Amino acid sequence: MATTRMALRMALAIVLASAASAKKPIPRGCPTGTPNNTYANPALPLPYDGYLPAIDNETMFLHNTRHAGGAVNNVNAILARYPTLRDSVSLSELVSRIGLKTFDKKYGIAANDSTALRSNAGSAINHALFWRIMTTYNTSRPADHLKPELAGHIAAAWGSPTGLLDALRAAGASVFGSGWAWLVYFPDAAQKPLAIVTTPNQDNPLMAAHVARASRGVPLLGVDVWEHAYYLRYRNLRTTYLAQWVSLVDWAMVQRNYDLAVAGAIDSLYC
Ligand SMILES: *[C@@H]1O[C@H](CO)[C@@H](O)[C@H](O)[C@H]1NC(C)=O
Ligand SMILES: *[C@@H]1O[C@H](CO)[C@@H](O)[C@H](O)[C@H]1NC(C)=O
Ligand SMILES: *[C@@H]1O[C@H](CO)[C@@H](O)[C@H](O)[C@H]1NC(C)=O
Ligand SMILES: *[C@@H]1O[C@H](CO)[C@@H](O)[C@H](O)[C@H]1NC(C)=O
Ligand SMILES: [Fe+2]
Repeated sequence: MATTRMALRMALAIVLASAASAKKPIPRGCPTGTPNNTYANPALPLPYDGYLPAIDNETMFLHNTRHAGGAVNNVNAILARYPTLRDSVSLSELVSRIGLKTFDKKYGIAANDSTALRSNAGSAINHALFWRIMTTYNTSRPADHLKPELAGHIAAAWGSPTGLLDALRAAGASVFGSGWAWLVYFPDAAQKPLAIVTTPNQDNPLMAAHVARASRGVPLLGVDVWEHAYYLRYRNLRTTYLAQWVSLVDWAMVQRNYDLAVAGAIDSLYC
């Protein structure tokens, strides 16, 4: 019952976003759309060396331009074969629905392309969120940005923002192989509103076809635990990377993402 209502509300948010897009240009989500409905790899808010000492210059450069940029190129190459899909579905809607039989059938998406979109559109949206959720090391204070409602939910679940980050670090450390750890918002009022979940590879918590119901929600904050995110500086020491990474979290963005998620403005989350 609870999960059904959540599915309905998420579907409603998607439908509302689609209806709104009938008049205005399609909300592409980020990476932002270019005139020909291809996606651009989003630039970092800070210079590549702006994330020190947590993340080094070369890692940020390679991560943004090569790893994430490569996925964006792959998405564009695949979508060139599906112009209706490309021109009518935003990135967050694509990520939410890719792999659902009804969706793949509606747009005639071949099984191999569905699999490739799961990975590459997943990567595009995951990294779009990741770039936006980080700011200058040790400068963002939760108390300066969290409004009472969100602060209350965090306190109820983890005691404090530090408790939340401790749980996020533990979740990130627990991922076997490549993946992500997330703070997600569940739109269903009957559920607890926030949880920390993990996804393998480039899966995103929005993915209805690929993510278990208990982990399916709107990502507000995500940390990349693929080796490409940390190996140059930290080698195999993922937990050391995570301990440093949490000092990059931009709490103003966490509050912004929460406000957008509560409003059902999923397309705006990653821009
Ligand atoms: C968009 O398409 C037009 C015509 O098809 C082409 O001339 C132009 O180079 C394209 N722009 C981009 C950014 O791909
Ligand atoms: C950061 O890395 C980029 C790409 O390798 C390089 O062009 C730039 O000079 C580097 N900046 C610093 C401050 O090391
Ligand atoms: C899927 O298969 C088709 C037909 O063999 C091919 O043209 C296309 O490039 C494949 N897609 C990917 C992502 O490799
Ligand atoms: C982080 O900032 C606080 C307050 O500005 C300061 O006391 C602390 O030493 C800083 N920590 C690091 C690791 O830079
Ligand atoms: Fe990554």
